[in-house]
Amino acid sequence: MVDYSKWDTLDDDSDDEAATVVVRDEPAPAGADAEIRRAWPTLDKAQRASVKAFLAENELALAYAKQALEPRLFRADEHRRWIRPELLAVADAWRRDARAGFAGVDALCRVEAPGVVSFPALTDDFCDALVREVDHYRRSGLPSRNPNSMNQYGLILNDVGMRGTFSAFLKYVLLPVGARLFGDDRDRSRAVGGEAHAGEDWGGSSLDDHHTFVVQYAKGRDIHLDMHIDECDVTFNFGLTDAARFAGNDLTFCGMYYAETHRRRSATYKHARGRCVVHSGKRRHGALDIEDGERASLIMWTKSSAFRATAEYARRNVRALNHSGGADRVCLSYSHDPDYKRLMPKGLQYSMVDDGPLATAAPPPPTRKAWRTVCDEAKLKNGQSRRLVLEAENEQVVVFRHRRKLFAIDNRCAHQGGNLCAGDVEDLGTVMRHRTKAPPKSVNACLEDGVVRCPRHGLCFNIRTGESRSTCSARTATRPRRRRRPPRAPSGTS
Ligand code: FES
Repeated sequence: MVDYSKWDTLDDDSDDEAATVVVRDEPAPAGADAEIRRAWPTLDKAQRASVKAFLAENELALAYAKQALEPRLFRADEHRRWIRPELLAVADAWRRDARAGFAGVDALCRVEAPGVVSFPALTDDFCDALVREVDHYRRSGLPSRNPNSMNQYGLILNDVGMRGTFSAFLKYVLLPVGARLFGDDRDRSRAVGGEAHAGEDWGGSSLDDHHTFVVQYAKGRDIHLDMHIDECDVTFNFGLTDAARFAGNDLTFCGMYYAETHRRRSATYKHARGRCVVHSGKRRHGALDIEDGERASLIMWTKSSAFRATAEYARRNVRALNHSGGADRVCLSYSHDPDYKRLMPKGLQYSMVDDGPLATAAPPPPTRKAWRTVCDEAKLKNGQSRRLVLEAENEQVVVFRHRRKLFAIDNRCAHQGGNLCAGDVEDLGTVMRHRTKAPPKSVNACLEDGVVRCPRHGLCFNIRTGESRSTCSARTATRPRRRRRPPRAPSGTS
């Protein structure tokens, strides 16, 4: 069973180690005011992590405020200026009279597939300004985190001072849409635009938190997005790029994660600038390979703390994922499906193409374990690696020698299939000193562990445990290895 609760974690400090290590005598962080300093000794590990995240976000936001390209984007009270008039009219009507507002939502929305609905949302001017701002931020040299565990290119807007802008947008404009499509039975409609939309209650009536970021796709950057679900209740995804400026990269939607149909395609959606596509975060989806140009999206992962406290939410979250039954190839996930390599033909692996045919899950062939020779041990020097391609099994294994010991892991990077054999290996302690002070992800990680950096996008994996060093939950598989003893000399020789 795949543990979906660990996907796409938003919190840098949410790893296992953070949850188990007790910090003693840790001083209050720099930048904490007198009130925080007073309360600091009484806070537990999780509370301290939130305080630190809050201070770090504000520090970055303050640093960037002085050099922002479009200061208007950072003013929460100006959010109305960049919303399309038809959506603004619906939001205003809803504030005066909820029923009238909901009727406006019904008229404005278009059903793309069961549980997937789109509506006009942002002005072209805003979309262009936001993309310029993101590019400007990247040139500023200020630090940035990856937008989420799967996208390496883009920017978390909450981190750089735009949280207030998007909180206002959620509260005053998006909430009626969320309530009508994914809210409780009192608010939720059965149909919009005359068509049934099949939305379920995912807390849409009480959305009160968001993780808002921009993602960018282009050749040489993130070229697609593997199938996944989001760590949120309702996802609002806004196209920012004019459709004439990119080809491919369509969003593909499959079933809800708990359903028999979760790996069956339900829709392919082409992004339009300013238009929002909204769906439950727990619907499997991904983005196909980009063929030309570059594309950006603004994404708001929204949550309802009230809904998350309900028994219904808990019940849905423990439903097991079912990997039996058929799957459309386009709905398979190389980072989450254990049967991916069995179902996806070799030539199509680690790409996201819409090739149409179905893959039907046959019972797995019996596994036979056998040792395979990689190379003569003397030929693998410290710091070197060797790749073993297992044609029949459709596997690639890489063996590293680090600190004189041998380690073997899957050669394909768990992010997007990069060739780990070509990556540099360093000590985990060295990587931490040079690049980040973040602690090792695993409770088992040691500073002397070797860490291989994927040559494609730079994710680092512990070669002993297979775990990713970053916030990414991706993990590459480890393989057993052994030295073959030299044949014994026949007795009687010396
Ligand atoms: S393929 Fe993206 S980091 Fe390896």
